[in-house]
Amino acid sequence: MLTPVHRWIWSDAERRVQKLLRFGETETDGGRDILRAAEVTSDRLLRRLYLEHAIDEFRHGVLFRRRAAALLGTLPSRSNGSFQGDWLAPGGHGLDDLQVDDESDYTMLAFLHLSEKAAASRFTVYRDVMQHDPPTRAIFEEILHDETFHMNYTRTQLARIAPQRHRRHLWRARLSRLWKSYLRLATAIAGVLGSILLIIQYFVLLPLFAWLAKRAERREIPGWSLVSPKASGSLQSQY
Ligand SMILES: [Fe+2]
Ligand SMILES: [Fe+2]
Repeated sequence: MLTPVHRWIWSDAERRVQKLLRFGETETDGGRDILRAAEVTSDRLLRRLYLEHAIDEFRHGVLFRRRAAALLGTLPSRSNGSFQGDWLAPGGHGLDDLQVDDESDYTMLAFLHLSEKAAASRFTVYRDVMQHDPPTRAIFEEILHDETFHMNYTRTQLARIAPQRHRRHLWRARLSRLWKSYLRLATAIAGVLGSILLIIQYFVLLPLFAWLAKRAERREIPGWSLVSPKASGSLQSQY
C-alpha cells in the first residue's frame, strides 16, 4: 500500500545517500549487539551462529556505507538536508530496543527472529522500488538474502532450545515490540502536541499578555509620585 510513498522517498538521490548512511550505522550497531550476544550465550552452536550473524551485519553496514559514498560522489552539490521519512521507511533491525546482557537465549532468539523478519520485509519493498538505481537495488537484494537466512535460523534455533514453548516466546516478543512501537508513537504524538501548544502560547497567549502589559503601562503616571505626608510618617513601611 505504501509502495508509491517508498518510491518517492527513495527517488531523491540526496535522501538516498542519507538513508543509506543511516542504514549502515544501524546494521553495524546491530552487529555489535549480536556480537555481545555471542559473548554472553552458553550455547556453543548459538555462539557460532551469532558470530556469523554479526559478521553479516557488519558487512551490510560496509555495503550501505560504500554505496552511500559512491552515490555522494555523483551528487552535483550538497544542500542542507531534506525530509528523510524515517518513520515511513526505517532501517534494519530495531535492535536498539534490546539490552543484550539482560536477555536469555529464548528472548534473544525470539526478538532477533521478529526483527530480521521485519528487516526482510522492509528490504523487499526497498529493493522493489529501486528500479531506477540498479547498484543500490543489488545491495538490497544481497542483504535481503542474508536477512532471510537470519530470520530462518533464529526461528529454527528457538524451536531447538525451547521445543514446547517457542511459540509463547515469539508471542511475548511480538507483544513487547507492539508495546515499544506504541510508546514510540505516543512519544512522537506528545512531541507534536507539545509543539502545537507552544506555538499557540506564543502566538495567542503571549500577544494578549503583551497587550495587557502595554495597557497597564499607559495607565501609569510618568515621573515621581507624591506620597501623602501622613503615610510617610510611619517607620513600619517604606512610604
Ligand atoms: Fe542486516
Ligand atoms: Fe540481519
